[in-house]
Amino acid sequence: MLKKRDLTQYPLIDTSSNLDKNLVVGIIGDGQLGRMLVLAAARLGVKCRIYSSNCQGCAISVADNVIQGCFTDFANLDEFANGVDVITYESENISLPAVKHLSKKYAVYPPAHALEISQDRLAEKKFLKSLDVNVTAFQAVSSEADFLAAVQRIGTPSILKTRFLGYDGKGQVELTANSELSATYSRLSGSPAILEKKVDFEYEISVILVRGLNSLTSRVYKEKIYDIPANTHEKGILKRSIVPAPIDDNIRLEAKAIACKIANALNYVGILAVELFVVRCGKQAKLLVNEISPRVHNTGHWTMDACVVDQFENHIRAILGWPIGNTDRYVDVEMVNILGSEIYQLQSFLPQSKSCIHLYGKETVSPLRKMGHINKIKSFS
Ligand SMILES: Nc1ncnc2c1ncn2[C@@H]1O[C@H](COP(=O)(O)OP(=O)(O)O)[C@@H](O)[C@H]1O
Ligand SMILES: [Mg+2]
Repeated sequence: MLKKRDLTQYPLIDTSSNLDKNLVVGIIGDGQLGRMLVLAAARLGVKCRIYSSNCQGCAISVADNVIQGCFTDFANLDEFANGVDVITYESENISLPAVKHLSKKYAVYPPAHALEISQDRLAEKKFLKSLDVNVTAFQAVSSEADFLAAVQRIGTPSILKTRFLGYDGKGQVELTANSELSATYSRLSGSPAILEKKVDFEYEISVILVRGLNSLTSRVYKEKIYDIPANTHEKGILKRSIVPAPIDDNIRLEAKAIACKIANALNYVGILAVELFVVRCGKQAKLLVNEISPRVHNTGHWTMDACVVDQFENHIRAILGWPIGNTDRYVDVEMVNILGSEIYQLQSFLPQSKSCIHLYGKETVSPLRKMGHINKIKSFS
C-alpha cells in the first residue's frame, strides 16, 4: 500500500487535488468488472461513483455513490463527473458520444480513441493492420451482396460478426461449407458486420498490460505486463484461464511486444487486454491478434490471487497517475468462471482448500451468465 509521503512524488492526474482529500473515481457501468474495480479502489482508500442506466448491476451495492441516467443526458453526465478526480469505464459497449463529451472537460482513461477503435471490429482490424500486426483475413459486410463477395474471397470455415456491440460470442454466426448463405446473413438482421476467416488455433492467449501516465511531467511510466494465460472458451464465453500458458518463450515475448506496440500507438493509460491466437505452422508458431479491450478483462481475474498487485488495483493506480504496482506472479493458477446454474454447486466449491472464490452477488441466474469465478492455486513457482 502506498504511503502518503510517496504520493507527493507522483502528482495525481488532477494536480489541483488536495492529497489529503478522499479521491473519487467515476466508473461508467455497473457490472462485475465495475464491482471489482470498486473493491480494489476501496483498498487504496479511494471512493467510487458509478454511472448506471438502471441501477441493477452488481457494482451498485458496493459503490460509494451512484448516479442513474442515460447516455444521452449530458447534463446528468456532467453531474456525475463533477467532483470525481478521474473517470473510467468497465465495458467497451458504452456510448462513445458520452465518453467523448466527458473527455472534453474531464480526465477520462483509457482514452476515448482506444474505446472508439475497440467498439468497431472493422476499425479495430484496420488499426491492427496499420501497425503491421497480423490478424485473420477479414472483409467488411454491409449488405447481402457484400456478404456473398466476402464468402467468395475468404471462404469457409469463417465467422460473420457484427461490427458493434458483440460480447461473449454474441452477434456471431459460424459459416461452414454447408451453410445456407442467405439464411446465415439474415441471422444478423442486416447489422453492419465483418466476415472473418476461422482460425485453426493451437491456443488462445491474452496479454494484460498496464500503462500509466504522470500528467504533471507527461512522463509515461513504463508499461508492466502480467504473465500470459491460455484461455479456453465454451460457446464463445471464457471458461478458464491457465497460467502460465504452455507456449514457447519466443511466442511469449512476441505477444508482449505486440501488446506494447498497440498500447504505445494508442498513448494508452490503464489496463489493456489483447486477445491472440497461437497458430502452429510446422515447427514454428505464429500469432494473430483477435481483439483488444480497453478495460480490465476476464482473462486477468487470476491476478487477484496469484500476483503481488492485481489488474483492478493497477487500473486504479494507472488512471490516478500513481506508480504501477508489481505484476509478478508467485503461483501457478487456473481461473474458472462460474457460469449460470453452476452457482448452485457453491457448496462443493467452498471447501476446496486451494480455491479462492469470488462471487459477484448477482440476484438472478440465467444460462451462462457470469456469476463469479474461482482461482485455483496450483504449485508455487
Ligand atoms: N476468427 C476466429 N477464428 C477462430 N475462433 C474465433 C474467431 N473469432 C472468434 N473466435 C472464438 O470466439 C471467441 C469470442 O470471439 P471474440 O471475437 O473474442 O468476441 P467477443 O469476445 O467480443 O464476444 C474467441 O475467444 C474465440 O474462441
Ligand atoms: Mg473476445
